Amino acid sequence: MKFSSALLALAACALAAAPVAAQQPIVIKFSHLVAVNTPKGKAADYFKKLAEERTNGKVKVEVYPNSSLFKDGEEMEALQLGSVQMLAPSVSKFGPLGAREFEIFDLPYIFDSFDDLHKVTDGPVGKALFKKLESKGITGLAYWDNGFKDMSANKALRKPEDMKGLKMRIQSSKVLESEMRAYGALPQVMAFSEVYQAMQTGVVDGSENPPSNFYTQKMHEVQKYLTLTDHGVIEYAVIANKKFWDGLPADIRTALESSMKDATKYANDIAKKENDDALAAVKASGKTEIITLSPQEKAAWKKVAVGVHKENESRVGRETIEAVYKETGFKP
Ligand code: LMR
Repeated sequence: MKFSSALLALAACALAAAPVAAQQPIVIKFSHLVAVNTPKGKAADYFKKLAEERTNGKVKVEVYPNSSLFKDGEEMEALQLGSVQMLAPSVSKFGPLGAREFEIFDLPYIFDSFDDLHKVTDGPVGKALFKKLESKGITGLAYWDNGFKDMSANKALRKPEDMKGLKMRIQSSKVLESEMRAYGALPQVMAFSEVYQAMQTGVVDGSENPPSNFYTQKMHEVQKYLTLTDHGVIEYAVIANKKFWDGLPADIRTALESSMKDATKYANDIAKKENDDALAAVKASGKTEIITLSPQEKAAWKKVAVGVHKENESRVGRETIEAVYKETGFKP
């Protein structure tokens, strides 16, 4: 008698708890490295808003900006282990994972414009790259733009030769390593969150990034010159833990896919203006001198770096390089 009333009490508790458990939202931890007021930071927040609205609160997206949850070198593993469900790393960070073909985006001067870039991200190459992530337990959801990279240092960089001997921070990409070596600089792979301090203390002399990252990481406080070389891009791959994504109820996944589609349009629509505004803010700060190159000067930077394409053919894949040349009309 005692035993069965205990059982009944237990069953009653379970019944009372069931509706509560059913109401628990699905939590998506979305971690990224940059400030909130950047193209990626704003797009991540916009995705959160849409996803929560369109799933009627059945999904809760927790966005962790500015390396506040995981930093470079940690976040990919965290995604694979399921400690976070979504990330948006720069495509230059997939090499250590064994997806070296993503370094195609790092080949200097391969893109002249966002239009060129979108031919690749929206085309078969972009799709094929995402396919390569599946065996690593990762689902590629979208490509988000940041912008064109510029070189910064505490010395005026007008000619490629001015880079000689400078310690330049790079992302974990072998192609970026060859790019810096081609300029005679000494590449140093370093987590994004450590760059400001490394510049302040002289551990590195300079770096490459678009104005939005340069300004929001306050690099203008510790770099005297920024040269508008536009020699490459920072592009993001928005990715999810595959097991998590595949395991979502179909209606939820559909709502998240539509939220991602609209957040992607938003990200790519604001990217250029965000970078233009950040450059204007750097200029207004009066702390960093902005160096604009003439077409002839820019051609000299391009001439030195273009050899990096051939040098990295076996790493990135000749077929991938040729497919991109065909899509963008790039002539080596
Ligand atoms: C970097 O330089 O590491 C940046 O690309 C980080 C980012 O996510 O934009």
